[in-house]
Amino acid sequence: MKSINNLAVFTSGGDAPGMNACIRAVVRAGIANGSKVFGILHGYEGMINGEMMEMDAAKVGNIIQRGGTILKTARSAGFMTKEGRKKAHEYLKRWNIDGVVAIGGDGTFTGASVFMSEFPEIRFVGIPGTIDNDLSGTDYTIGYDTAINTVIQAVDKIRDTADAHDRLFLVEVMGRDSGLIALYSGIASGAEAIVIPETPTNIDRLFQKLERGWLRKKSSRIIIVAEGDESGGAIVLADKIREKFNFDTRVTILGHIQRGGSPTCNDRVLATRLGYEAVEALMRGRHGVMVGQMNNQIVLTPFYEAIKDENKMNMQLVKMAEILSM
Ligand code: F6P
Repeated sequence: MKSINNLAVFTSGGDAPGMNACIRAVVRAGIANGSKVFGILHGYEGMINGEMMEMDAAKVGNIIQRGGTILKTARSAGFMTKEGRKKAHEYLKRWNIDGVVAIGGDGTFTGASVFMSEFPEIRFVGIPGTIDNDLSGTDYTIGYDTAINTVIQAVDKIRDTADAHDRLFLVEVMGRDSGLIALYSGIASGAEAIVIPETPTNIDRLFQKLERGWLRKKSSRIIIVAEGDESGGAIVLADKIREKFNFDTRVTILGHIQRGGSPTCNDRVLATRLGYEAVEALMRGRHGVMVGQMNNQIVLTPFYEAIKDENKMNMQLVKMAEILSM
């Protein structure tokens, strides 16, 4: 079996807390396996522009606890073009790269699949790094645990002021196509309602629930809204509520605060394990797969399967949250 002589690693798409822990693991596992390891800066954009640097064990010291990514990241339009991928291939060849670890989400793996179909001699393995948790083949993606903990800390604070003023708050959380951040943070913060793109938002039912809460003299009410919900987000929903009720209503959009911060212990361990296992997989000749963790076991999933997240929403948890948020 061909082993990897020159290994490259990069981060791509939205950054996620734990990416640095993952880079550290890839670099050190690569070195331990006898490879030269290179870091590509700014994701696919840097691959196109030849932004590469050799990594050693010391370069990834003191980063396990840091959010963001020391390799920087980008969303690359250039890599979506054939010329862009050709340029990226030229640079990878110039550096004699034969194995690549891509840390990112669905866009990252789609890019890797297209690239591998054009240039099959360069072997890619993926690692799920996105706060959205919207990939199949892994229970959790790197960054999700930190993001949901950031959300619940913020919502706990909002709950204090909501309670003091007897207010209704709509808190919008990230998740372009996925309601998993909203679901977990909504359950953990005792939200009165959780609005997600995976289920149709029934405005009348939401109004009935708010009315019941009003009659029960609830002093604070929190609705968690996933940004990708078809209702149009927290601001639109708040306007609809104001049209119907006289509630003192406020909106908080948490935004990019959810992407930053020091990764939780779970994210650091997950990132480290997946980084290590990605290198092991490449060394065993595996490629075109994402390395994930399910039921505490390492699972390799083809890129095209990983980017389908259809069954990821846990409808039992959705139902439970609905029942308990009386
Ligand atoms: O994919 C991760 C994510 O944080 C989404 O939840 C969010 O919609 C998007 O990235 C925001 O992207 P950007 O930082 O490019 O605006």
